[in-house]
Amino acid sequence: MSIQVENLVHIYDKGMPSEQLALDNVSFEAEDGQLVGIIGHTGSGKSTLLQHLNGLLRPHSGKVIVGGVDITQPGVPMVQIRKKIGLVFQYPEYQLFEETVAKDVAFGPKNLGLSEEEIAERVREAIELVGLDYEEVAERSPFDLSGGQKRRVAIAGVVAMRPEVLILDEPTAGLDPKAHQDVLKMVQEVHERTGNITILVSHNMADIARLCDKVVVIDSGKLVAVGTPYEVFSQKDQLREVGLELPPVTQFTETLREKGIELDSTILDVDTAVSQIAKYLKKEK
Ligand SMILES: Nc1ncnc2c1ncn2[C@@H]1O[C@H](COP(=O)(O)OP(=O)(O)OP(=O)(O)O)[C@@H](O)[C@H]1O
Ligand SMILES: [Mg+2]
Repeated sequence: MSIQVENLVHIYDKGMPSEQLALDNVSFEAEDGQLVGIIGHTGSGKSTLLQHLNGLLRPHSGKVIVGGVDITQPGVPMVQIRKKIGLVFQYPEYQLFEETVAKDVAFGPKNLGLSEEEIAERVREAIELVGLDYEEVAERSPFDLSGGQKRRVAIAGVVAMRPEVLILDEPTAGLDPKAHQDVLKMVQEVHERTGNITILVSHNMADIARLCDKVVVIDSGKLVAVGTPYEVFSQKDQLREVGLELPPVTQFTETLREKGIELDSTILDVDTAVSQIAKYLKKEK
């Protein structure tokens, strides 16, 4: 399974005074097993892009090819596409509505027309996959859970559909630091367990640098950079121009480098920064 986005253009309110070019000729690819991060300033078009990946929005022009099928073509069965591509919206917990966690997670699989046993198995598996204790939460009201737990239940509802591609729009937005780390760890675990494509929008550059195989940068609907975290975060002037920061550890080591301290460029993790700084200090003695 792979996804190819080719020259995608999206225009909101076409022909009206409020017309807005939200995606302007965006192309990139996601390959099997990749964790892809999408970054960009607020209003840059990230959520618009995600909604094209499972056919929720139709483009003005361009293609979205999922597993060899161009899903922008008329006649493509959208039910099949939505089965393959699970999209977790921003603040998905607002969409929880059932009286128990188990029922809420079962909602998607039920719509797939699966047997009761299959649904029950998937619900249990998804709840555990997102790091919750099935026995503890299954019969509770989702509304009695903490913010981080609610978020996990909402994600479990999509995971239970066993999508081939899991897309998450800012899954850590608004969570406290502990819940933030927990949800990220969970995303990483689900990604590793399934071995599928995961696509993640985040404003947190440290998370993107640490987790992703590939980073896509958009600004005002245009693709400005795509590559490995190293390739993307090496382009620091370009990132600054579009209002994005480097990950904090990279900012720190780049500042040291500007002051003449010899370190590798574009260090993306704290361990490497520590060992390089220690090496430098030893040499200076
Ligand atoms: N339903 C809509 N109707 C009209 N314009 C829209 C609609 N949704 C988004 N837009 C506009 O399209 C542009 C891209 O919006 P989008 O929500 O995709 O950005 P984003 O990168 O997800 O932003 P954020 O980081 O704030 O979530 C913005 O200018 C926005 O105002
Ligand atoms: Mg958005």
